[in-house]
Amino acid sequence: MITGHTAVFGVIGNPIEHTFSPFLHNMLAKEAGLDMVYTSFHVKEGQLENAFKGLNGLNIQGINVTIPYKLEIMQYMDEVKTAAANVGAVNTVVREGDKFVGYNTDVFGLQMSLEREGVTLEGKSVLIIGAGGVSRAVAVMCAEAGVKSVAIINRTIEKAEILKAFIEDKYEMSAEVITREQLDSGEGIVKELSIAIQTTSVGMSPNVEGNPLEGSSIYSQLDIAVDLIYNPGETKFMSEVRRAGGIAVNGLGMLYYQGVMAFELWQGKLDPSIVNKCYDVFMDKMSK
Ligand code: ATR
Repeated sequence: MITGHTAVFGVIGNPIEHTFSPFLHNMLAKEAGLDMVYTSFHVKEGQLENAFKGLNGLNIQGINVTIPYKLEIMQYMDEVKTAAANVGAVNTVVREGDKFVGYNTDVFGLQMSLEREGVTLEGKSVLIIGAGGVSRAVAVMCAEAGVKSVAIINRTIEKAEILKAFIEDKYEMSAEVITREQLDSGEGIVKELSIAIQTTSVGMSPNVEGNPLEGSSIYSQLDIAVDLIYNPGETKFMSEVRRAGGIAVNGLGMLYYQGVMAFELWQGKLDPSIVNKCYDVFMDKMSK
């Protein structure tokens, strides 16, 4: 029941009506027995500053931030955590005393979705497919998780070079740009690759026939791959990974765990049994 004591949380974005976050957070709150409500706020163009002042004035306890405000929100933060600053995107705002602190929980979400499958990233070599906006969060995740080296493959080589330069500037992790020929040659860094993360939009609905690495020989050596796409639930890329005997997961796990981490930043650690139970409900609902 909503009363005078109920704490208010929410997500801001534009558009916002397709967000799954209220479903996820209200489910976690209900399971944890917490007196809170999580809603969505449609922040129209030019209204971010007003929205932020409103959150402050209304004593709203925490917010998630989605497209197109993940970068713009940073200027209103008293502190931005290193991973979020490096990604260049804040998706979670936490009140810490009288300060607003910006986090990027996508990075953690991706790591958790891999760890759920029993994968340890530390010391491994990872193939990053794509070099667009999300690939930066993937690179930060790899570096923060102690990955030894990454190989980047992208249609536009210059963008892969920019990602490599970014990594080398910010982290100790080594990065190499590779071509499709190098990938299929199995030489050099390719020999070490056992994990792949697919960050391009190739294969996303409605163009479900696309696969950025169609027919590559890399599949036989992948233990696990994540495709950040979740519609369709199994992309052509994932099918090829599975056919070659590897584990393939879609982007729903990352979505789920970025929400869990935001929730825990606001409300403290959840009981693992709640996290697991809600995971199943979330997967079930989102897969329909
Ligand atoms: P952003 O994530 O920054 O918005 P994007 O345009 O959505 O960027 O592209 C995301 C990734 O998908 C990029 O790696 C992009 O490759 P390019 O850097 O060569 O543009 C990749 N991508 C999109 N369409 C593609 C296609 N048809 N074939 C191969 N890669 C593609």
